[in-house]
Amino acid sequence: MHSLKNWRNSLRTGKRPGGKHPCRKASFPVQKNVQYILQQMTPDNKPIPMADMNHLTGLSGLSADSITGLLDTAAGFKQTLRSPNASFSPTLKNRRIALVFFENSTRTRFSFEIAARNLGAGTLGFSAASSSVSKGETLSDTIKNLEAMQVDAFVLRHPSSGSAKLISRITPKPVINAGDGSNEHPTQALLDMFTLREHFGSLKGLKVTIIGDVLHSRVARSNIYGLLRAGAEVGLCGPVTLIPPDAEKLGVRLFTDLDRAIAWADTAIVLRLQLERASGTYLPSLEEYSRHYGLTDERLERTGKHLLVLHPGPINREIEISNHVADRIQPPGYSKSMLLEQVTNGIAIRMAVLETLLGGTP
Ligand code: CP
Repeated sequence: MHSLKNWRNSLRTGKRPGGKHPCRKASFPVQKNVQYILQQMTPDNKPIPMADMNHLTGLSGLSADSITGLLDTAAGFKQTLRSPNASFSPTLKNRRIALVFFENSTRTRFSFEIAARNLGAGTLGFSAASSSVSKGETLSDTIKNLEAMQVDAFVLRHPSSGSAKLISRITPKPVINAGDGSNEHPTQALLDMFTLREHFGSLKGLKVTIIGDVLHSRVARSNIYGLLRAGAEVGLCGPVTLIPPDAEKLGVRLFTDLDRAIAWADTAIVLRLQLERASGTYLPSLEEYSRHYGLTDERLERTGKHLLVLHPGPINREIEISNHVADRIQPPGYSKSMLLEQVTNGIAIRMAVLETLLGGTP
């Protein structure tokens, strides 16, 4: 692991500490995930148009038109959701959607459930602990068995990067990636883009800085692919130990100094420090991380910026984001928090994804 001295040096110089990047250490537990990501770092060359979309495993393969189409469809749903007695045509009546979650979730799971019900579909809940996975059943056998019960689509969250794509190759039913390891979380990025487009009117030329633990973040990766394809500019800011070594290849700007990243940006997506994926082992201490990369009023005041702030949640309060910044939804202040608006927008986005993949004839 990098020493504290090296970490501080890298902050000062913006250069990587000497020696191997920690994710290339053979013994590191997330190595398999990170290796997969590094192979996937270049977005697919032939983006999928909306008409050919059978699954949503990531944004790396989606065309700009497909992304715009999903955001426009979600905008229609949001308009109805705003009305007091919102009701939707049951376009997915008699459809069964399996919510296959191998990791915990509050926002994604509930909003998919609400989105499916809004469109008249039924949902089947699944949790690894209470399923036959605990007896050794594989992921592919689980999916094939659910398919045999006439499930119409799979919403999959799984700790292994690449799992959604793998499953999309063994089932003809639509597979929606609800977060696979450190690879992608496409519906989260779509709802982030939706929130930004709603606020700023357009994503073209918008400067978005993504702050924190980019290395382990599926949200960051999907946002990078989606935002760049939609014409936004993307900056990544964090300690070099938490930025993927090949990130420059994607066409993003890199910052190790948070003040500079904020001064450059129109908006910030703050990432959760993924302590369960061992992010802490890349840092000297949480206090030091918070001092250099925590988004606080003091820092925003110093840069003289009024910033629109997004965070996918769940948040580590007073580590990557202060209570004031996380909770301020009204002026006066240095920032506006979109955290709960993002959650509301998640329903419209997930309705748009389900309608696009499952709408029409069964
Ligand atoms: N943002 C997000 O994916 O939250 P959950 O883990 O609660 O679904």
